[in-house]
Amino acid sequence: MNLPEKPVVAQPEQAAFPGVAGAAGETVRFAAVGDLHCTKDSAGTLRGFFAQAAEAADALLLCGDLTDYGLPEEARVLADELAIASVPIVAVLGNHDFESNQPDAVRRILSDAGVRVLDGEACEIRGVGIAGAKGFAGGYGRGALGSWGEGAIKLFVNEAIQEALKLESALAKLRTPQRIALLHYSPIQATVEGEPVEIYAFLGTSRLEDPLLRHPVDAVFHGHAHRGRPEGRTVNGIPVYNVAMPLLKRVFPERPAFRVFEIARAPLVAA
Ligand SMILES: [Fe+2]
Ligand SMILES: [Fe+2]
Repeated sequence: MNLPEKPVVAQPEQAAFPGVAGAAGETVRFAAVGDLHCTKDSAGTLRGFFAQAAEAADALLLCGDLTDYGLPEEARVLADELAIASVPIVAVLGNHDFESNQPDAVRRILSDAGVRVLDGEACEIRGVGIAGAKGFAGGYGRGALGSWGEGAIKLFVNEAIQEALKLESALAKLRTPQRIALLHYSPIQATVEGEPVEIYAFLGTSRLEDPLLRHPVDAVFHGHAHRGRPEGRTVNGIPVYNVAMPLLKRVFPERPAFRVFEIARAPLVAA
């Protein structure tokens, strides 16, 4: 925990923080985790975990790599496991959910099970807006890959640009004072540090940070960097949380592998 300002994340066993908008408003709790990598053999193994998360929060946020190989069978297992959670569930897909070229089937199975899968869209839970997109790779800052040279490079960079545009359009739709961004890839380098330097560029890109500068949010959650760091900030100070399950298990071995973000809604103003 090395964020000096406004602690906004509490684990379930910790006292509730007042939240970012003051203690007067209703507090809404989000449990966030990514990289479940659900397989066909996961049946029965995640239920207890999701029950704990649903107990600790008012909604679940799932940050991609929901399945291991992007197979419909895996998505069906995950849907069954999630059925125990009687709170709203919002998700984005991750790169693993594309591995078998069936992301639409994965998305449909989860949507049919009541999961709101965001791909450049936004939704609202108890007055808190959530914008979601998978994101993409490409590197950070001056090291970000530019759209120049071979067509293959331009295609790669364009994919990152399109994902950043999806995030931007989702953020632009939000009208709520409190907002969360959900990604799989990281928008900042700080939360992938700990991974080998050689693969930073494949773990996210600062192109995803640009929309967050124009449309600030209260917090960003992402996964993908299993060996990264749990917390960082965008250049405009937005807290960014890497909630990849393997990372949370390693850094917080004594806690359930999700993080709870408590956000206080702004007090309603009488008309
Ligand atoms: Fe992953
Ligand atoms: Fe991933």
